[in-house]
Amino acid sequence: MKGVVKRISGPLVEADGMLGSSMHDVVRVGEEGLMAEVIKVIGDRVSLQAYEDTGGLKPGDRVVNTGEQLSVELGPGLLKSIYDGVQRPLESLWASSGDFIERGVEAPALDRKKKWHFTPSVGEGDKVAPGTVLGTTQESKVIEHRITAPPGVSGKVNGLKEGDFTVEDVLCSVGKQDLTMMQRWPVKTPRPVSSRLEPNEPLITGQRTIDVFFPIAKGGAAAIPGPFGAGKTVTQHQLARWVDADVIVYVGCGERGNEMTEVLDDFPKLKDPYSGEPLMERTVLIANTSNMPVAAREASVYTGVTIAEYYRDMGYNTALMADSTSRWAEALREISSRLEEMPGEEGFPAYLGSRLASFYERSGRVTCLNGATASTSIVGAVSPPGGDLSEPVTQNTLRIVRVFWSLDAKLADRRHFPAINWLTSYSLYKDITDPWVRGNVSPDMPDLRDEAMGILQRESELLEIVQLVGADALPDHERLVLETAKILREDFLQQDALHEVDSFCSTMKQHAMLSAILEFHRRAGDAIESGSSISDIMGSDLLEGLSKMKYLEDEKFKDSIEGLKKKIGEEMG
Ligand SMILES: Nc1ncnc2c1ncn2[C@@H]1O[C@H](COP(=O)(O)OP(=O)(O)OP(=O)(O)O)[C@@H](O)[C@H]1O
Ligand SMILES: [Mg+2]
Repeated sequence: MKGVVKRISGPLVEADGMLGSSMHDVVRVGEEGLMAEVIKVIGDRVSLQAYEDTGGLKPGDRVVNTGEQLSVELGPGLLKSIYDGVQRPLESLWASSGDFIERGVEAPALDRKKKWHFTPSVGEGDKVAPGTVLGTTQESKVIEHRITAPPGVSGKVNGLKEGDFTVEDVLCSVGKQDLTMMQRWPVKTPRPVSSRLEPNEPLITGQRTIDVFFPIAKGGAAAIPGPFGAGKTVTQHQLARWVDADVIVYVGCGERGNEMTEVLDDFPKLKDPYSGEPLMERTVLIANTSNMPVAAREASVYTGVTIAEYYRDMGYNTALMADSTSRWAEALREISSRLEEMPGEEGFPAYLGSRLASFYERSGRVTCLNGATASTSIVGAVSPPGGDLSEPVTQNTLRIVRVFWSLDAKLADRRHFPAINWLTSYSLYKDITDPWVRGNVSPDMPDLRDEAMGILQRESELLEIVQLVGADALPDHERLVLETAKILREDFLQQDALHEVDSFCSTMKQHAMLSAILEFHRRAGDAIESGSSISDIMGSDLLEGLSKMKYLEDEKFKDSIEGLKKKIGEEMG
């Protein structure tokens, strides 16, 4: 079907003569064949959002509907790749057209020439169903790629091969369909699962504030709202580096070009703490910077989550980080206003909430079609203008996600990092994941956490009194609360992303540290009861020991912290 361009307004193009078009069809516009997507259909007139710059396009230019929905290619070779929002490999785009990507360039997402060794896991004549693992190939040093029968495909395996193949070579046929290592999938359709499970296992991040106080579950959804410079990007990078997911998808969405360049420079150098191999061996990067067309921002988050679901369907725990979802929402607003839709709050379209939901709801812990248990976790950064959390993107996001890591400008100003405010943040996964924590970290961990949070909350109440009457007016046991809270803030909550050792803290070390600090608190409380003064206690050199715990390497912390606890018992008992 061929139509003609009638009107162009920034990324929005209207075209006539497009009868038979469906929502989300991909079309090619103009001489250069710019990529665009159908977002509105009235009779034979369609509105298109262009994924490339529309400069130079004019009324009368032709429009061709490809008849395909916006889709991604799924198969070996995704890992280690860096894509733009519509899954064009940036490296080969740069190689062919330099820093400024030419328009209308088509570049396959998966290398067509590379051969992968395919080892079948099924036999000739076996009956397979959607999701069945047909065979495997070692995609990277750390990830075995499982080739699965695509959703909707079942029957007997015929003509099964073993050996080295490209992603287009036929491996076997199932029913009437020839299968290769590659599948295509429309990005806006969630990939089907067999059932959804309760997300009762935490996604370990190695960040003390998160793992202990505000955990995210494997398969959970979390948001990091924060004002300018509060640490959203650093936190997202920390998560991408340290979470114990098998596969990471990092989407840089509409952020400044230089931030993304940092990601593109840094990530390939980072080492995976779990395998010792480069982090990129289990990572896919999607980069859609502020100088790229706005419409591609929306595509980039869907491209990312579809890739994460694809690896989930192999039985892996996957995690997606998107920085920042606000830039995506701003793109929605821009397109919506050009469509002259009725604006909702602050000019955002009325469907902002449902769009955000349709993204975050693709997280989950599931039983895959093939029976494996796996998960996709999603963490989205939100950049509320002026740090005002009442704005629509933050509010709509908080209605959907179950973890809220509230970055606080005041904490960031005081260089308290991560600047996650412990009084306003929350996690609704805490109770669900507690049994796992009791069984796998320590039976007393949730109690220690609650005790510590109680001290921090008490501190904020006491600080109001201190402002009026000064700390000296407080009795010693309340001054002790202030001192312990300070230890908790400085020696436990604060964690330096840039420090070689402190950047990651294992759950065992988290437990040892917290239990030492609370041991100190209890013993000091007893000592005060029996007549010691707070100034004696705070003069103790035990405090220095507590402040150094976080820098103890993982192999050493156990004995050192145990020793410290014993000393606390001896000196204060
Ligand atoms: N966990 C951390 N450890 C050490 N430093 C940190 C940490 N988090 C943030 N910082 C410091 O704060 C600075 C700003 O952080 P970041 O760039 O992540 O903020 P942002 O919220 O993404 O900002 P923007 O709104 O500009 O995107 C960093 O350059 C770093 O110096
Ligand atoms: Mg940032």
